[in-house]
Amino acid sequence: MSEPRRRSWAEPYKIKMVEPLKMTTREERERAIREAGYNTFLLKSEDVYIDLLTDSGTSAMSDRQWAGMMLGDEAYAGSRNFYHLEAAVREIYGYKHLVPTHQGRAAEHILSKILIKPGDVVPGNMYFTTTRLHQELAGGTFVDVIIDEAHDPASEHPFKGDVDLAKLQAVIAEHGAAKIPYVCIATAVNMAGGQPISLANLRAVRALCEAHGIRIIHDATRVAENAYFIKEREPGCAGMSVAAIVRALCDLSDGCTMSAKKDALVNIGGFLALNDDDLFDAARNLVVVYEGLHTYGGMAGRDMEAVAIGLHESVQYDHIRARVGQVKYLGEKLQKYGVPIVVPIGSHGVFLDAKAFLPHLDQDVYPAQALAAELYLDSGLRAMERGNVSSGRDPKTGLNRRPRLELVRLTIPRRVYTQAHMDVVAESVAEVYDRRDAIQGLTMVYEPPQLRFFQARFEPLA
Ligand code: F0G
Repeated sequence: MSEPRRRSWAEPYKIKMVEPLKMTTREERERAIREAGYNTFLLKSEDVYIDLLTDSGTSAMSDRQWAGMMLGDEAYAGSRNFYHLEAAVREIYGYKHLVPTHQGRAAEHILSKILIKPGDVVPGNMYFTTTRLHQELAGGTFVDVIIDEAHDPASEHPFKGDVDLAKLQAVIAEHGAAKIPYVCIATAVNMAGGQPISLANLRAVRALCEAHGIRIIHDATRVAENAYFIKEREPGCAGMSVAAIVRALCDLSDGCTMSAKKDALVNIGGFLALNDDDLFDAARNLVVVYEGLHTYGGMAGRDMEAVAIGLHESVQYDHIRARVGQVKYLGEKLQKYGVPIVVPIGSHGVFLDAKAFLPHLDQDVYPAQALAAELYLDSGLRAMERGNVSSGRDPKTGLNRRPRLELVRLTIPRRVYTQAHMDVVAESVAEVYDRRDAIQGLTMVYEPPQLRFFQARFEPLA
């Protein structure tokens, strides 16, 4: 028998239930975006055609997860679903103790409160919005120790999530280990464009931290996606299963915060996991203050069951290959149209390089925000700004942080859209790119004090 010809890629599931989408007219979209203050977070979902705002809580659950929802044990204390979730976390991630929370930022809140003292510094491989805010609210200062390539949208480095060990060493030398409660390591670094950290780099970070007695806390939100890239790219890892790589990554840290709304394929949920018994005690004492009893932490029993099942699905090779493959499909299509995007194509979305897309706009007229609004006007496609608005103001100077990365994120929900939707998205972005010179900047007319990107309002300049 001869070799089969190249086979097309297809989603490893079939569709059992559909949710109709609403199409809008240009006129309707003009009104909707004006009323939303040119902020895609403030649009009504029903006015959106293809929703690529986020991959958070937007997954389609499997039939097995829905079946699990019917097995919710809604006892206030000791729900059987908590024990299922605890077993899944131990089996897949390997952490000893589980503290459930309603979503990721709640885990960050509790972790920051138990570990960070005023004046502490927390090094990490690039900030995430809510993570850094909780570190700051606890009196800490985040210090970015990611490699320089991560800040360059055009660098093809295969592991742009890697830590620059010299930068980390310098932070330790400057502040001393006693002022560093932990190093915060994200997998599939969101703000860098969904870029992975390598196992080799994390091992080296671990060795350095161990030498100074510093903990590593892992933001495991997209660890399965990171593991897939390691299998694809890291020498010596092609023969490992995604599950084994996930476990190897987790084994190099002392605990994790998790937004289960991403990798774990659920609409709500999260947790904090810790190996240390005393830290676990402290976290368990706080979760009852802010979230709920330590065996549900803000989730219903049925939600915990769906997370437990979703964690198992998240490390299945066919699933993760198709998930990351769909993102790649969209990214490569945009590259064919000549649209500037962050490379290598990331795990959970395609990130448009708004500085290169709109070079005529200064960063303080918010090019990424303006581009996201323009994409909505063109086709009803909803994207998200990840640039100067998301980055906020420097607490010391009060000025916009003007980050090097000024991006628009086209985030792909898991198992929700088909390849045909990706084609429509690519065509819309290409059309906007063709008339990019006419796109104007925005001025911010309402600015919330924290996480301003969620609720800020803008008006077009001129
Ligand atoms: N860490 C990372 C890396 C995240 O991407 C998120 C959320 C969180 C923590 C916080 O988790 O939303 O469950 O409280 N990211 C979403 C996004 C909001 O759109 O990127 P949460």
